[in-house]
Amino acid sequence: MDETLAVDLRQITKQFGTTLANDHVNFQVRKGEIHALLGENGAGKSTVMCMLSGVYRPTSGEILLNGAVARIHSPKDAVKLGVGMVFQNFRLVPSLTAAENIVLGETHQVWRTKAWMARKTAEIEALATRFGLPFNAGRQVWQLSVGEQQRVEIVKTLYRGAELIILDEPTSVLTPGEADQLFVTLQQLRSEGKTVILTTHKLKEVMAVADRISVMRKGKMLATLDRSATDEREVARLMVGQDRQEPRPRKARLKGPTLLDMRNLVVIGDHGRHALEDFHMTIHEGEIVGIAGVAGNGQKELAEVLAGLRMWKSGTITFRDTKWKGASVRHSIESGISHVPENRMKSGLAGSLGSVDNLLVKSYRTPARSKMGFLRHAENRLWSQGLVEQFDVKTAHLDAPVHHMSGGNQQKLLFAREIHQRPHLMVAVHPSQGLDVGATDGVHNLLMTLRDEGKSVLLISEDLDELLLLSDRIVVLFGGRVMGEVTHDAADREHLGMMMAGVV
Ligand SMILES: Nc1ncnc2c1ncn2[C@@H]1O[C@H](COP(=O)(O)OP(=O)(O)OP(=O)(O)O)[C@@H](O)[C@H]1O
Ligand SMILES: [Mg+2]
Repeated sequence: MDETLAVDLRQITKQFGTTLANDHVNFQVRKGEIHALLGENGAGKSTVMCMLSGVYRPTSGEILLNGAVARIHSPKDAVKLGVGMVFQNFRLVPSLTAAENIVLGETHQVWRTKAWMARKTAEIEALATRFGLPFNAGRQVWQLSVGEQQRVEIVKTLYRGAELIILDEPTSVLTPGEADQLFVTLQQLRSEGKTVILTTHKLKEVMAVADRISVMRKGKMLATLDRSATDEREVARLMVGQDRQEPRPRKARLKGPTLLDMRNLVVIGDHGRHALEDFHMTIHEGEIVGIAGVAGNGQKELAEVLAGLRMWKSGTITFRDTKWKGASVRHSIESGISHVPENRMKSGLAGSLGSVDNLLVKSYRTPARSKMGFLRHAENRLWSQGLVEQFDVKTAHLDAPVHHMSGGNQQKLLFAREIHQRPHLMVAVHPSQGLDVGATDGVHNLLMTLRDEGKSVLLISEDLDELLLLSDRIVVLFGGRVMGEVTHDAADREHLGMMMAGVV
């Protein structure tokens, strides 16, 4: 019995139908360490985490916690054993306050009085402050930013007494500043003796925060490394089984005619205030325009206007020499605008449907896909199969519900659908979020190919490396206004960062 191990997985196998998600996995996490679990999309990382937190039960094998065999048959069992998990899609009730969400499920909640709740709120805020996780516990969750909601989730695990905290891709929803803050918190957790397991696809983050690194590929555990004894390159090679491709050389851009011209645009956000204010932007054919900015500065609303999902209050939009009259999703699709949205499960994919139906959503009206109002079933299946193969989407079969696919594979499916439209303009919001290094290179190549074919891309990203790599021009948004604009060659990280923070 080894009590220095918080987690000891022995020969764990997990099978979903014909998919072997975990294949005789051995995985050891020491008490009090920050352990990063890495691997390509679909490697089986979330599955490992879900077995530790009681969401799934292993098909075979043993789980030991703190040296003793643990029976984790439900999330409740996991909580009792001191395991807390923060899922990628938060599971908070939006209309309840942060504090109410945290105490939800406590047995004596029938006795809840105002005084009791006030005491709990104070207790929760104290706990949050101790770990550097500030949020207003009395606020309803829908009013909190994504970063704050994540803090609520972490505090919820601590409140329930978690000693082992599991975070599945915690930084993929965070801005760079919020991610740095999270790493400080993780270190704080470690210094108080807690154990942390996290996944991420960003190797820089791993090197910055993890004590040890375990790498999975295709359901198997390959190796566990000490961070101090390895480097990004070795880890990347282990993950994908080969060295990464060199990025394709950047071709000189042939500046084409104006494709999109937005002038004096004013757009109201969900919060009722101006999300975009006197906004100007042009995009030419054959160019990638990057939008840099900390989330919440109008980029989401900008993408929604172009996708036909949001009306603008004043100003003009001219696309391919036609002045737009109003917002219409169908009109945007038919004018040749594709959209990879920020939240794929909320607005991009229908989770309970399979790949074929999800691929058809945008093109079922075209003659290739339907005839006199009837879908061409056989052709559509073949067509879907082709796209799934071309974009390397890993799914059990074409009709398997997409919410069973790993996060990265969902993103690839969405990309396949959108790029297949051969759009004039691709609006890509955080296109590589949740993708592994290989798939990220793939998406970058696709965007560059579109550009080289004379198509245009509006790239909205918080990842400065991605923006600097791909964009012909970068426009910086701050408070709904254009703070400044730089060309690819003149772009400078520090200057961009200052503009993103509202300092010229
Ligand atoms: N509930 C489920 N039903 C069927 N198959 C599943 C289910 N959950 C996961 N899988 C399959 O198991 C495999 C591993 O998935 P998992 O989500 O663990 O990967 P991952 O490493 O977390 O990938 P990503 O980086 O893309 O999130 C995938 O092939 C996935 O399709
Ligand atoms: Mg996952």
